[in-house]
Formats: sequence, structure tokens, C-alpha cells
Amino acid sequence: MKLDFLKYQAQTTPHPLGLEISYAKGSYIYTTNNEAHLDFVAGVSACSIGHCHPEVIKAIKTQADKYLHVMVYGEYAQKPAVDYTKHLAQLLPIPQASTYLVNSGTEAIEGAIKLARRATGRKEIIAAKNAYHGNTMGALSLMDFEERKAPFYPLIPEIKHIAFNKTDQLNQISSDTAAVILETIQGGAGVIEPTNNYLKKVKSRCEEVGALLILDEIQPGFGRTGFLFAFQKYNVIPDILVIGKGMAGGLPVGAFVAQRKLMNLLSDNPKMGHITTFGGNPLIAAASLATLKVVEKPEFLKAVIEKEKLFKKLLQHQLIQEIRGTGLMLALIMKDEETANELILRAKKEYLILFWLLFEKRAVRITPPLTINHKDIEKGCKIILGILDDLV
Ligand SMILES: Cc1ncc(COP(=O)(O)O)c(C=O)c1O
Repeated sequence: MKLDFLKYQAQTTPHPLGLEISYAKGSYIYTTNNEAHLDFVAGVSACSIGHCHPEVIKAIKTQADKYLHVMVYGEYAQKPAVDYTKHLAQLLPIPQASTYLVNSGTEAIEGAIKLARRATGRKEIIAAKNAYHGNTMGALSLMDFEERKAPFYPLIPEIKHIAFNKTDQLNQISSDTAAVILETIQGGAGVIEPTNNYLKKVKSRCEEVGALLILDEIQPGFGRTGFLFAFQKYNVIPDILVIGKGMAGGLPVGAFVAQRKLMNLLSDNPKMGHITTFGGNPLIAAASLATLKVVEKPEFLKAVIEKEKLFKKLLQHQLIQEIRGTGLMLALIMKDEETANELILRAKKEYLILFWLLFEKRAVRITPPLTINHKDIEKGCKIILGILDDLV
């Protein structure tokens, strides 16, 4: 299979990890040669309630027996999407929340940028340095890494960058700014949490100048931080919320949420200001509702915090300089890039899945399924510590 994978399927790096997958269940991925790999990455935070959660599978199967795709997004009333967006609105502090369902995180970012420009009549978007919001042309434009962007120029103009958590740069947000877009917690940058009420300060500067605040919760959303959404931890409410990844229990999805009066701007003048064929797909909406009903429970969210504590207690080692993050959005910061690489690659040989972060090369990602049990946390941490002992 690996040879065909390399021959027929497009690659994203010259040296993919290339595990040959047979099936996955809970916190484990099983390979074609029957190895059980303990998953501390969860499809890069997408399989938040574990692989093939029974509630998600049941919802998909029930819906599959009724209908699949019937019409482009937004024309027909389809119960799975209606039920989901209603349930989500009831849980969100955004008044009259209206949700636009799309197919991926990056597409949701595109929609959010369009909505901000349409709503304000302004062009400038301010993003944070070291941010990651996706890889389509608009989302890529928000990145400040020249070497990753330059081969694809021209991208969208009028993007400015500010340093995350630096309040002295907030005066760059002006009456020319349509929106400021931030990850609530910067993931790829090294799992950087907002400090000193940073997000509240950004929001109040936005309000002063009439700009919108877009928060990208594609990674920290849906319980990963022990809060349903991470912005709840930092006491700020975005004008536009962008979600994806863990939202549909492992199916491809994205969405952006705003007040109804804002969202209406995308359906008129011009009509069809944003359209998608498969957004709101009934299988995915049904899976999203099943997932939400699992993660919204207070006892589920509380258990995430207990698991964070266990990781932080166990992962003490002279080679780990710092454990960053909150809930189960964690990163080990090693002394250098080589140690991080070595740990990730050796862990693979010991059937523990770890992964890199995009920009912080000293980091080792720990974002397991939120459903992982304490025994598996202990087992994985023991493997990590054993490898690190060897590396001393
Ligand atoms: C914070 C953040 N925003 C946007 C995206 C893009 O989402 P997708 O890969 O579903 O397009 C990601 C994916 O890693 C992400 O972590």
C-alpha cells in the first residue's frame, strides 16, 4: 500500500510518516500489520472524541439511511443542519448566532474574511505573527512567513501583522481595519496562550475603531481546553467565530458564526456572497450534533482538566524545558529541534503517535483524543520518559 500511496497520491512532504492504516478505535490506530498505536495527536486535534465514537457512528448511519446530498448549501431546510445550528446557537454567547457551515477550516476563514470586508466596507485585515489559519489563498495571506508564501504570490493585499500578546502594537488597529483575526490560543506558534487580558484589550480597541474581532477556534474549540470554546476562558466574545477540526468527530468540516444581522449581508447585495455545494452536508451535520452533545457536558469538560493535570504531573524530565498549553492542547518544549525530532521519531517505533508543531521546532505536540483514559495517558507518558532517559 505504501508504494501505491507514494505513487498515486499527492504528498505534502518529501518524507511522509506513512503508517499503513487498517482501522482506528478510541485512542488507538491499528495498522495493516496489526500494530496498535496509541494516539497522542488525534488527527491533529480533529478526532476530539476518539476514533469512531459510537454516538458519531450511529448518527452517520441513521442519516445515511435517509438522504445524503440533496441541494447546494442554503436552499433547502435539512433537519441535521437546522438541529445542529440551533443547538450551537443555544450554547454560544453570541446573540442571535447564525452559523454558516462549510467543508474545512480554511474555507471557514475565507468566509470570515469576506464577511468582515462586506460588513465594514474596509479592506485591511490584521493578523498575528506566527499565526496559522489555513492554506487556501486568503488564509495563506494571513501568514507572515515569507518563504511559505512567496512561491504563491500574488496573495490578497492589505494584510498587516502584529505580535501576539503585545498590547503596545494595538494602535495599529485603525479605522482602516476591517477585522483583526487571531487564534484564541496560537497553536503552530508553540501553543501560546493570551496573557494579561490581551484578547479583551484587542476587542475593546476593535470596538473603538469599528473593526471586527475574528477568533479562530478551529483547534481549541469543542472542549479541547476544558471549556466548550477557549474564548470563554479569556472572557471575550468574538464578532465572528471560526470553528472546524474537532467539530464533527473526525469528518471534514468548518463553520463561521456571527450575529444574524451580520451574516445576512452574505446572502444579499450581491446575492450568494458566499456559496458552497457541500457545506452543511447532512451526514456531517448529524455527526457534528452527536459530537457536540458529548463535549458540551460539564463532567466531560471537567475530565479534560483532570487529564491536563495528569499529563503535567507525569511529564517532568530534565530534557523537557516547559509544558505549554491548557486542557489537552499541550506542547512539550524541548531544549532544541533535534531532541524534539528524536522524541517524535523514536516514539513512533514504540507505537506512540506524537507530532510536530508548524513553526515552533522545539515543540512536541500532545493533543490526544479528549476521551483518552488515565491508563493510556500513563502508558504514553512512560514511553516518552523512557525515550528521554535514553537521550540524556
Ligand atoms: C488554528 C487553525 N486554523 C485553521 C486551520 C485550517 O483548517 P483546515 O486544515 O481544516 O483547513 C487549522 C488547521 O490546522 C488550524 O489549526
